[in-house]
Amino acid sequence: MAGNSAHEIIPLNELSREGAGGYRLPSLEVPFQTPLPQKYLRADLPLPQLTEHDAVREFMKRSHTNTSVDGSPLFPLGSCTMIYNPAAIRDVAVFANLHPLQPEQTSQGALRILFDLERILSELGGAAAGTLQPAAGAHSELTAVFMIAAYHASRGEGDQRKTVLIPDSAHGTNPASAAMAGYNVQTAPSNKSGRLDLEALTKIMEEKGNTVAALMITQPSTFGIYDEQIKDITKVMHDYGAQVFCDGANFAALVNRVKFGDLGIDVFHFNLHKTFGVPHGGGGPGAGYTGAAKHLVPFLPTPRIESSMERFVLSFDHPQSIGTVSSAYGNFLADVMADKYILLMGSDGLMESSGVAVEAGNYQHQLLSKILPPAFGGVVMHEGIVLDTPLRGLKVNSDGRAKQLTVIDLVKALTDLGYYAPTVGFPLHDGILTEPTHSASKAAMDAFARDLKEAVEHATQDPEWLATSPHSTLVGRLKEAESDRNPVFTWVKNGK
Ligand SMILES: Cc1ncc(COP(=O)(O)O)c(C=O)c1O
Repeated sequence: MAGNSAHEIIPLNELSREGAGGYRLPSLEVPFQTPLPQKYLRADLPLPQLTEHDAVREFMKRSHTNTSVDGSPLFPLGSCTMIYNPAAIRDVAVFANLHPLQPEQTSQGALRILFDLERILSELGGAAAGTLQPAAGAHSELTAVFMIAAYHASRGEGDQRKTVLIPDSAHGTNPASAAMAGYNVQTAPSNKSGRLDLEALTKIMEEKGNTVAALMITQPSTFGIYDEQIKDITKVMHDYGAQVFCDGANFAALVNRVKFGDLGIDVFHFNLHKTFGVPHGGGGPGAGYTGAAKHLVPFLPTPRIESSMERFVLSFDHPQSIGTVSSAYGNFLADVMADKYILLMGSDGLMESSGVAVEAGNYQHQLLSKILPPAFGGVVMHEGIVLDTPLRGLKVNSDGRAKQLTVIDLVKALTDLGYYAPTVGFPLHDGILTEPTHSASKAAMDAFARDLKEAVEHATQDPEWLATSPHSTLVGRLKEAESDRNPVFTWVKNGK
């Protein structure tokens, strides 16, 4: 019977049965009236007619064709990683009816959570104070860059310092944030070990130090590497009056072990969704925190949450502030989840989580490095990059032309096995970046490495198989250029 197939996705209009419906409205007790002119009214609405249960079943079936953080055998995505979102922190319904513009008197509990969380995060990062206003990591970076700009302006150097240095390993949001704040971006090169090239950085600063506003460095970097020279790096920048922003999106590897403030960092951010349990699907909503050293505190956004006479207040009395960066003090419910996560984990639990994240990162990286060459030698932190070099020798015939196989083809084969695709082509164009996080089991990492190895071996025997992967997903291999320029967003059964 139509619609009863366990796996086949059937267009809703084919499942439609005359008269079926999911709701029944009471009959009108007053004469029907509408302000719309008659010509805009229609007698019928040709939507599929389904019972509520049929509709729910069909949409559930569709949802199961997605790979998800809970559905993938391992969630190997690096950089914009999804960490484990414990169900225990997700119940925030009790706060859902608070209105963002509710007066202070009636939102003391909410303000207290934000106040406490800001203090906890400041303590973990070694900041004098911070803000939870930013709604995401990139937004926190932008907030930090605005603060740096305001700081230089306050010293009469705003017009002279127009360049922000960013290592080539950086996440794309770093240059985007700097550019949005009106800065010119200059790349600071990495050395062969994947760390910032201190010699090259010193040279840049010797040449144009007094025109540089800041360095935006990520610690540990998107190469999965901790830069042990960080104190020398911050010193070079400070010697020339520049500021150092640290992108702390990868802080999951350092929680309760390293404080950015101790490294000479002036301003930094955390992604609460990459470090403190907050879910982020489909690009949001996450939550950000920007923390500042003492000299940058006056520039933090307003309102700031302060405590006075045992009450929590939203204070605007900060004349040097960059102003408000979020209309509703950030993503409050995400902040509540992060707060619950931190309190449930406790200080020891947080320290254990960062230890396990690094241990798992290295274990997985070592396993994968036996299959594909690692991008850099030595240990990694939370994530690691391996290269697709062995695939580059494999070629297939595509539309009459020889096509070289790459990492993109490899991850398509992994989606056949139910894996969410790892990060590919970033931050190295020929690399696969994977981060198991503190919640991946050894068995899951072993299985992932086994599956990757089999895919590489199979591809070597049969490059065509890899080039046409995935074979078992609902939607197969898309033509990249065609699907980009002429995307088809409506359902087409059997490709017709
Ligand atoms: C290193 C790094 N910086 C910045 C970001 C941007 O964070 P968001 O996606 O919350 O804007 C990410 C993303 O996860 C990241 O990995």
